[in-house]
Amino acid sequence: GVQAFAVEAIPRISRAQVMDALSSQANVSGYKSVLLAASESTRFFPMLTTAAGTVKPATVLVLGVGVAGLQALATAKRLGGRATGYDVRPEVADQVRSVGAQWLDLGIDAAGEGGYARELTEDERAQQQQALENAIKGFDVVITTALVPGRAAPRLVTAAAVEGMKPGSVVVDLAGETGGNCELTEPGQTVVKHGVTICSPLNLPASMPEHASELYSKNISALLELMLVDGVLAPDFSDEVLAASCVTRDTKESS
Ligand code: NAI
Repeated sequence: GVQAFAVEAIPRISRAQVMDALSSQANVSGYKSVLLAASESTRFFPMLTTAAGTVKPATVLVLGVGVAGLQALATAKRLGGRATGYDVRPEVADQVRSVGAQWLDLGIDAAGEGGYARELTEDERAQQQQALENAIKGFDVVITTALVPGRAAPRLVTAAAVEGMKPGSVVVDLAGETGGNCELTEPGQTVVKHGVTICSPLNLPASMPEHASELYSKNISALLELMLVDGVLAPDFSDEVLAASCVTRDTKESS
């Protein structure tokens, strides 16, 4: 008899942005992933010209540029790093450039439905892994956020790619919950492989509880307000947001 709603099932449409908990929490994760990378890194992020010598800016590659990835790129830029973004949805290129980052083009288009990516074919995956293996060598920091709804996280950073990175480099893998984007990721752990530190934090929003909770509570109150009619809870299930996010109703599972 319970009417239950799943916030992660709220459609990603403009009107529902205020209720979009995936976005509000991914924003926190993207920001914090860069701080984590910076604190694990053996290098500065900004370029520094000092009496003791000049330090080159850190090069940061973000793989998967949804909400978390875009915030990671913007945060890496703010810290003075040189940021580059890559995604399989070509429309992301302009968003990457809009935060002052460079776009890495590997020529794969895998835009799926609802703004999400589709899973790559076997051939595309092999092509992507090879191209990324070559590109990754040149970066000091790699942050991965790539997800495909309902699937295991795509494998973007192979063991060979990690081996090709300079010692002291850092990988922060935000996809650990669904297996990780990096072959050497150990979900929930920080490990060092081939001299490269690989971090797989599983709940970064919880490490910034004040703002994560403030934003999440706004998501929930906006969702509840949508269900109110003259101050009484009366969800209108012809509303696409409520229809899509409702998971149980009238003692049945809702589609
Ligand atoms: P997500 O967390 O599902 O995935 C992260 C990123 O990984 C995506 O950009 C995806 O294209 C990329 N990816 C997947 N497989 C990949 C692969 N093999 N190689 C490289 N990259 C790969 O994405 P998120 O952050 O949940 O955003 C999903 C969509 O929702 C986006 O199109 C975003 O613009 C849209 N959106 C819409 C909102 C609204 O209007 N309410 C609010 C926020 C996001």
